[in-house]
Amino acid sequence: MRVFVASVGLTKIGDHWNKSLVDLAVEAGRKALSSKIEPDYLIIGNMFSSLAASQEHLGALVADSLGLKGKPAFKVEAACASGATAFHTAYNLVKSGASESVLVIGVEKMRDLEPEYVSQALAMAESAEYTQFVGASFAALNGLLARLYMHETGTTRDELSSIPVIDHKNAVSAWHAQFRKEITPEVVSRSSIVADPLRLFDCAPVGDGAAAALVVSERLVSEASKFVEVLSSSVCTNNFSIYERDDMLSFSSTREAFEKAISTASVPKGKISFAEIHDAFSVTGAISLEAMGFSKKGFACKDAAEGKYSLNGELPINTFGGLKARGHPVGATGIYQIAEAYLQLTEQAGENQVKGARYGVTQNMGGIDTTTVVHVLGSAE
Ligand code: COA
Repeated sequence: MRVFVASVGLTKIGDHWNKSLVDLAVEAGRKALSSKIEPDYLIIGNMFSSLAASQEHLGALVADSLGLKGKPAFKVEAACASGATAFHTAYNLVKSGASESVLVIGVEKMRDLEPEYVSQALAMAESAEYTQFVGASFAALNGLLARLYMHETGTTRDELSSIPVIDHKNAVSAWHAQFRKEITPEVVSRSSIVADPLRLFDCAPVGDGAAAALVVSERLVSEASKFVEVLSSSVCTNNFSIYERDDMLSFSSTREAFEKAISTASVPKGKISFAEIHDAFSVTGAISLEAMGFSKKGFACKDAAEGKYSLNGELPINTFGGLKARGHPVGATGIYQIAEAYLQLTEQAGENQVKGARYGVTQNMGGIDTTTVVHVLGSAE
């Protein structure tokens, strides 16, 4: 069975003090239901609603609020890859013929938590017994990774800034982005230190947001709406903690998920029009590009600085600002990436449009490449 996205819905990412987790999920879900196709399943991607909103059981809760009472509904969790893993579940339900249409909503409310609790919540993606126990935050682990990456590859501080610079430029014309301001490498390298050598502008922000996508079978494709085909969906896992791996700079989970995804989709790497990558920190964006083979090892930041990954470059990345500037409401991010790929492939990306976009890749990670989900989407023929 061929699988398509029929419609998507987004909320702006940022501080939503006057909206609850459910309000955000419903807002995005309603927008995605505008295609008038009735879903027969609801799947929610979310990482830490129990901590941020004292709320679990999100499937039934959001289903009731969306008028979908009676439908099967449940939550999928895989840390920051919760959104894409929820989408993977929807894809497989439709692909197998078990469902005709699944509404997937990624939602996260992070700003209601005090900063130290956000840090604690994010650290739950790492081992409680070993990594959390010694007090290592996610930013701290990525700081160590960035130090190693710079040492091993000779990447300079200014070169590391090149991916955040692209993200911020693309986000200027993205209405849903958290930070819509262009920056220079100097802004990154002079911003305050978060975890040496990572600075404020190397890091994805903390924000609230929800994104939704309606996944349908080929039987529901019609002229009445714009459809995008999901050509493949691949999930891989790695050694749980980064320090357990033979090569911390190789991101084997991203590499394997990507290779499997493009081979299943039968799309040669050279034909990919754009990639939405998981740049939670500038260093994770760089290593991801190298793991997928778009840049040689150690050259991702140099390639970015030379324009390869800009909106008008050879392979545009993060076309609406990526995690760094569009924002990273963790459990929702994977669905934001899918929604952005949908906008590109249906030529609804406005000023952010990649000309002639035919195939798009999305890469969403939980932990530091611990769970990685890669999707390949194509414009419907
Ligand atoms: N990039 C740029 N500016 C940022 C920013 C970011 N990532 N995060 C916050 N800011 C800005 C705010 O807008 C605010 O600006 P203002 O003073 O002009 O209003 C200022 O910096 C302070 O904001 P605040 O919310 O107090 O920041 P913070 O110091 O509490 O948090 C980080 C900054 C980087 C520590 C936080 O965003 C963070 O932890 N990011 C990583 C999240 C993460 O690990 N995600 C999961 C990865 S898989």
